[in-house]
Amino acid sequence: MKHPLPINKEVTFEGGVMITETDTKGRITYVNRRFINMSAYTKDELIGMPHSIMRHPDMPRCLFTNMWKSLKEKQIWKGYVKNLRKDGAYYWVIVYVEPKYNDAGEIIGYIAARKIPEERSLDEIKAKYGELLDIESASTQTENMITNIIAEEMGEVV
Ligand SMILES: Cc1cc2nc3c(=O)[nH]c(=O)nc-3n(C[C@H](O)[C@H](O)[C@H](O)COP(=O)(O)O)c2cc1C
Repeated sequence: MKHPLPINKEVTFEGGVMITETDTKGRITYVNRRFINMSAYTKDELIGMPHSIMRHPDMPRCLFTNMWKSLKEKQIWKGYVKNLRKDGAYYWVIVYVEPKYNDAGEIIGYIAARKIPEERSLDEIKAKYGELLDIESASTQTENMITNIIAEEMGEVV
């Protein structure tokens, strides 16, 4: 399924808890009714989909790198996430993610619960995420520049 094109429209979450579960690769295995409604997808579309389909371009990549690192280390991860809906609109949530285990204590998947974030803390988060995005895009530009220089130099050698 293609990533939706973001539009600048916020949808506010009515309340309660939005729950999803995934396999070890982050593919969705369970969604509750509240999550289905907020995502604007159907349940059939969501099951089996990679959770990354909801990644909003305003979310810094390092947040998710940190999420997966914590989960693999069997820790709970908590953070603010801006999610992309099927219709391109967005919503902010505070997410708690943790591993699910079998009897042998091995990770068999993950479970996430999302609530409405506090408006006060959200202002700070938006500013911090903006700074992180700037750093990430600057480092991508540097990487591209270095790749181009190397490619040009290799071209001269070959
Ligand atoms: C249980 C669980 C729930 C997740 N929920 C979300 C979510 O609501 N929104 C989101 O963008 N990523 C979520 N992720 C993280 C995605 O799997 C993915 O790492 C992230 O969207 C970044 O995409 P990328 O890894 O392709 O860069 C979740 C992961 C797990 C294991």
